[in-house]
Amino acid sequence: MKNKRSSPVDELPGDHPELTSGIRQVLYTEEQIRQQVAALAQAISRDYTGRNPLIIGVLKGVVFFMADLLRALTISAEVDFIAVSSYTSEARERGMVRLVKDLETPISGRHVLFIEDVIDTGLTLHYLLQNLRARQPASLEVCVLFDKSSSRLLNIPIKYKGFDLPPYFVVGYGLDFREKYRNLPFVGLLSPEVFENNKTTNQG
Ligand code: XMP
Ligand code: MG
Repeated sequence: MKNKRSSPVDELPGDHPELTSGIRQVLYTEEQIRQQVAALAQAISRDYTGRNPLIIGVLKGVVFFMADLLRALTISAEVDFIAVSSYTSEARERGMVRLVKDLETPISGRHVLFIEDVIDTGLTLHYLLQNLRARQPASLEVCVLFDKSSSRLLNIPIKYKGFDLPPYFVVGYGLDFREKYRNLPFVGLLSPEVFENNKTTNQG
């Protein structure tokens, strides 16, 4: 799988200052993301043939990745979502999140594929996987599009991984800064001025 980071700021696609102001650099282009999502979908389709997986995502950031990934699958699959509350910095340190929307589907005996847009420390994912494991799925695997592996505090087995990311705050393709930038078609680095002037905890 290709895993190339590139593109200086003068390659920001289009001339849309409202959309791209505050972006310093493109890390992964729309085309690179499309190709990697297709490769992930191919691997998942191969591994889950005949198993009708239930694909679970955490709102809201994952919906962009999820929509593209699912449309690239060549097998049947079902979809469900959970939503978690914003965490305080103390709760975040302990990996605590509150479920504000639970699954609609019972997962006991199901083959579950948990999809995340980005994994950073791994605390959120660890907490959510424990919660899901307690419901006794037949299998439970993880697919992550962006991995900040150098920030990891807990080791979490990731079966399907898209790209590595540096340990900086990134936005686009579902990832937001204060709810902005989710609809960028690429993933980019935020200018330090934007981030430093508006620091906040972030979830989803
Ligand atoms: P942990 O540290 O628990 O965090 O693995 C995962 C959650 O933190 C958010 N997150 C980000 N959101 N840009 C974002 O927009 C980022 O660079 C970023 N890093 C972490 C995200 O909500 C993820 O679910
Ligand atoms: Mg967020």
